[in-house]
Amino acid sequence: MSHPRGILILDYGSQYTQLIARRIREQHVYSEIVRYDTSVADIRSRAPLGIILSGGPSSVTEPRAPSLPAGLLQLDLPVLGICYGMQLLAQELGGRVESWGSGEYGMADIRVQKPNSLLQNVSEHTRVWMSHRDRVTALPSGWIALAATGNGILAAMTDAEETRLGIQFHPEVSHTVEGETILRNFLFRVVGADATWTPGNFVQDQVEKIRQQVGDKKVLVGVSGGVDSTVTASLLHRAVGKQAIAVMIDHGLLRKNEAGECVSALKDGLGVNIHLYDESRRFLERLQGVTDPEEKRKIIGDQFIRSFERVARSFGTIDFLAQGTLYPDVIESGVNFGRGQAAVIKSHHNVGGLPEDMNLDLVEPLRELFKDEVRNVGRELGLPESLITRHPFPGPGLAVRVLGEITPERLEILREADEIYLRILREEGLYQDIWQAFAVLLPVRTVGVMGDSRTYDCVVALRAVTSTDGMTADWYPFPEHVLQRISNSIVNSVTGVNRVVLDITSKPPGTIEWE
Ligand code: XMP
Repeated sequence: MSHPRGILILDYGSQYTQLIARRIREQHVYSEIVRYDTSVADIRSRAPLGIILSGGPSSVTEPRAPSLPAGLLQLDLPVLGICYGMQLLAQELGGRVESWGSGEYGMADIRVQKPNSLLQNVSEHTRVWMSHRDRVTALPSGWIALAATGNGILAAMTDAEETRLGIQFHPEVSHTVEGETILRNFLFRVVGADATWTPGNFVQDQVEKIRQQVGDKKVLVGVSGGVDSTVTASLLHRAVGKQAIAVMIDHGLLRKNEAGECVSALKDGLGVNIHLYDESRRFLERLQGVTDPEEKRKIIGDQFIRSFERVARSFGTIDFLAQGTLYPDVIESGVNFGRGQAAVIKSHHNVGGLPEDMNLDLVEPLRELFKDEVRNVGRELGLPESLITRHPFPGPGLAVRVLGEITPERLEILREADEIYLRILREEGLYQDIWQAFAVLLPVRTVGVMGDSRTYDCVVALRAVTSTDGMTADWYPFPEHVLQRISNSIVNSVTGVNRVVLDITSKPPGTIEWE
């Protein structure tokens, strides 16, 4: 697949590498991430306009530290090294890098010593975010110091032509007050990039690419109700019209009105050729009596594939399957310093995933996008804001939020409570501040009193977390009056619930979902 021209980021394992790419794309310049050991031939074939060397946890003073791809500096391209990247440049070109006690982590004030293109329009004294153990103690010959911290640590450097540059701090992190200016300077003054990476251009490009790939064949699109698959379906529709067949399988574990709203936005709003299948009976029958979370996930994943295959066959010969795979799923970092292999906490799967033996070729138009970019493309395509800004929803749906046994009655109770909860969050203007909010139905009953009578009913837990990627999360601190409203409304209007509790566990040690 051809790539738009942009900035290539070599990943040395920094926790901020993806953030660098996002910050560049926010300036409407394309950027992609590759492993630090990518060959120069591969790099050349991507035709980048400039290179960024990311930070990383290693030390260039160690024997087997990751190095520059052989021949990189022979390419006639601007290169910016950030943190570890700066130290690599210094070492490679004959400067000196030394370890420095316990290092420097957090805010630092630097002083700009020399006017130049990278630090143009940056205040003489400015605050930056540092996170390093090593420091550059001697510049490569012919290089110039551009800025230093109060205690004399070199903070920025350049070669005489201002095409090879290094900064010790992280411009991508929001604590670096003038980080955006510095990145913009690199993009537009040093590299001379054009700001053409826009949702409109993306849609135009993808429509062309999809038409070329698909020709006059048929494409199946699995729609889950989430933003990725919805945007994929709209994009496919824009590209090949009725040749794209969107299919939504209702497993009976969606939120209240979710399937209907999604189908109507796509069909009535945009004219997408979408078909809704109510498969809930099949799923719920197989889930009867099942209480183990992993078993629930396996049954749902398996039934999903069966239902999907049956539905797919009814459309005759299909050649392609479109999926809403995003960029963070395809970045191959290859750098695993200290990150280790994560233990399997939950066997996540994307309901809507590809049944492997269906022999369909994949169309993945969102492969180059981060989530926030997918939302902008959705806006460009005219999808309603309510679909675009919807909180993430797990593939197994309410099955992992009805703890214990799943029955139609218990699903109904949860749907009602969840709908009230989310409606109040929207009314209070809090929905967008929260990464994910949902109600959970607990597998216990408790005693209560309503009027003069004793009740013995269900407990609903409220979960609301803030997060940037779902990997870690904090519980959201609600104002008291909002909690009061939610609790009163749920207990007063949902039959079968007499108690509401609040989950105040961060992740880790908790997970976001309860199962
Ligand atoms: P946890 O509960 O692991 O969730 O902290 C992290 C994020 O993943 C979502 N999630 C799932 N998504 N299939 C999915 O597609 C799953 O089986 C699944 N389990 C959890 C969860 O909603 C949160 O956004």
